[in-house]
Amino acid sequence: MAVNVLVVYYSAFGHVHQMADAVAEGARGVQGAEVRVRRVPELDMFKSGLEKSEHYRASQQRQQENAEVTHDDLRWADGIAFGTPTRYGNMCAQMKAFIDTTAGMWQKGELENKAAGVFVSTASIHGGQETTILTSLVPLLHLGMVFVGTPYGENPQMLVTDGIGGSPYGPGTLSAGDNSRQPVESELTTARNLGSRIARVAEQLKALRA
Ligand SMILES: Cc1cc2nc3c(=O)[nH]c(=O)nc-3n(C[C@H](O)[C@H](O)[C@H](O)COP(=O)(O)O)c2cc1C
Repeated sequence: MAVNVLVVYYSAFGHVHQMADAVAEGARGVQGAEVRVRRVPELDMFKSGLEKSEHYRASQQRQQENAEVTHDDLRWADGIAFGTPTRYGNMCAQMKAFIDTTAGMWQKGELENKAAGVFVSTASIHGGQETTILTSLVPLLHLGMVFVGTPYGENPQMLVTDGIGGSPYGPGTLSAGDNSRQPVESELTTARNLGSRIARVAEQLKALRA
């Protein structure tokens, strides 16, 4: 069966962007899956501060390849992967602002029974890998979405004591305080596996909704 997967993300310095590409790659590996990668736009209140950073400007330039997300992308999707850098253990304001534009869709139940997963980036290993996903769940459950994580059975690469991102709740990478660290292969593997799992679960949910 054909299944549509949307990967929607915000990324200031490129870590979540790289993870989004890996989630999309995993989803594309599922037969019948069509995949869109869309970015959440910057908020005006952050622009003047962030644009002082060359790292930020270069990362935003690279992300121009992805169109800005629209409500029609949400409607099109059977499954949605949301990517966000942590902000004090929560999703970023840019992603929350976009989710807060969906009130009309919520009223009509347009996102109910669609599959959803969350992937993250944090500066430090205890900076919110798990909490950012768990706190992101609250609005997604209000919208009626069905949560998809990344269990150890499919992700044995997470069963280590090394300093890598990712948890049963979803993929994660670590950026370091100066955003110099890049996603490592085991983190990208978990991201690909989330994309694949969302596509497979979304396909089953689509059959149930039909
Ligand atoms: C306002 C603010 C709050 C942040 N809070 C945290 C935090 O609680 N824990 C943490 O590990 N990193 C925190 N960070 C660092 C970001 O999560 C990090 O820059 C991000 O993961 C990089 O992802 P990106 O390259 O996709 O933007 C914070 C950054 C900002 C600007």
